Amino acid sequence: MPHLHIERFNPLPLPHRHGDVTFEYLAENVLHDDEKLIAVRMEEKAFFLLLKTLPGKTLLKADKLSRPSPTWYVKKALLAYAEAAGLNVLASNVDTADTGMHLDDNRALWSIHDFAERFPTDREVRIEVGFGSGRHLLHQAKTHPDILFIGIEIHKPSVEQVLKQINIRKLDNLLLLDYDARLFLELVPSNLVGRIYVHFPVPWDKKPHRRVISEAFVNESIRVLAPGGKLELRTDSDNYFAYSFDTFMRLGRNHLEIRKNRDIAVSSKYEDRWKRQEKNIYDLILHNDTLSEPLAPLEAFTFAPAACDEAHLRALNGQTLRFEGGFVHFERLYRLGDGRMMFRLSLGPFERPEHLYLLLGDVPEYFPATPVRSRTNLEAHRRLKEALDG
Ligand SMILES: C[S@@+](CC[C@H](N)C(=O)[O-])C[C@H]1O[C@@H](n2cnc3c(N)ncnc32)[C@H](O)[C@@H]1O
Repeated sequence: MPHLHIERFNPLPLPHRHGDVTFEYLAENVLHDDEKLIAVRMEEKAFFLLLKTLPGKTLLKADKLSRPSPTWYVKKALLAYAEAAGLNVLASNVDTADTGMHLDDNRALWSIHDFAERFPTDREVRIEVGFGSGRHLLHQAKTHPDILFIGIEIHKPSVEQVLKQINIRKLDNLLLLDYDARLFLELVPSNLVGRIYVHFPVPWDKKPHRRVISEAFVNESIRVLAPGGKLELRTDSDNYFAYSFDTFMRLGRNHLEIRKNRDIAVSSKYEDRWKRQEKNIYDLILHNDTLSEPLAPLEAFTFAPAACDEAHLRALNGQTLRFEGGFVHFERLYRLGDGRMMFRLSLGPFERPEHLYLLLGDVPEYFPATPVRSRTNLEAHRRLKEALDG
């Protein structure tokens, strides 16, 4: 991730505009004065830079929770702040040449909110989870121009690399999403999807809760697959294969196809590696034969105007509210330069919570965006509102 080591932080009077970058306010951690956030607005993106004081040096870098894609925005904001505040940069991994090159065509990169608000339903959709280098996804999109492909990947450099390829190859039937695929499926309309590809997922032998395949994922896959649609798992891991087979079988009723060392039209980077090592490759393909109920509409995440009593917020800081299936954790409390307070929160289901901020102005507001509209997130939101009301 892009970062600068600086000799000393120099706070600018805010707001401050430097070229097309606006620094809006500073947020100071109320318990730890070695951590501050600088709010940045650039084009339509709003995010934080994180300032961390370490022994002997200060680090200015991207804030993980709010950093936008592509990282071009963060690089530009880091250099703009350093220049505007006259910071003495001791070391940097930000390539200045890079920041002149805007990935100016980002149309294929959608946010989770784009999908939540206007999921494309005009043609068959195929989804690839964890597309990595994108070889398989790009090949599929080129081969089937009438089908809309959606690639989901949590590794940002892979997303950027494939985004460039989409623009170079001028593909207009491929959308990318930089998000956890397990959460994404909950937003997909029922009976729309022709294929879900999960090729060479990380086996997470020691942390099985991080696996893509789970009962919840398979159930959601069945819901979103059209009758005749397929969920295709391809793996070199005996263990992951056995685990997935058990998971699929527990859910019964669907037709399973198993293949060993099947050649497919395009071999991914990982597949090439396993083939060189003469490992077996297994396909586990679930054929869906179910017509599912449409998605039930969910209420919106709203807040009523609320006065924030600092003593109450300080008492909440560090607390975890648990409920069946999920939780809300008040991780950190900040005081903003404009007088507001802000929480850093994690909330939602235990196995895949969301991490975000809550700005406490006249009406509380999530930042950088509201949580995904899932049932557990909505329950977490209700608990959060109760806690804020005291
Ligand atoms: C071992 S790589 C395989 C990449 C590619 N499918 C291939 O065959 O070369 C697994 C990929 O899945 C991504 N990934 C892991 N968990 C994910 C999740 N929950 N949602 C989306 N992508 C995920 C990882 O970032 C990684 O790029």
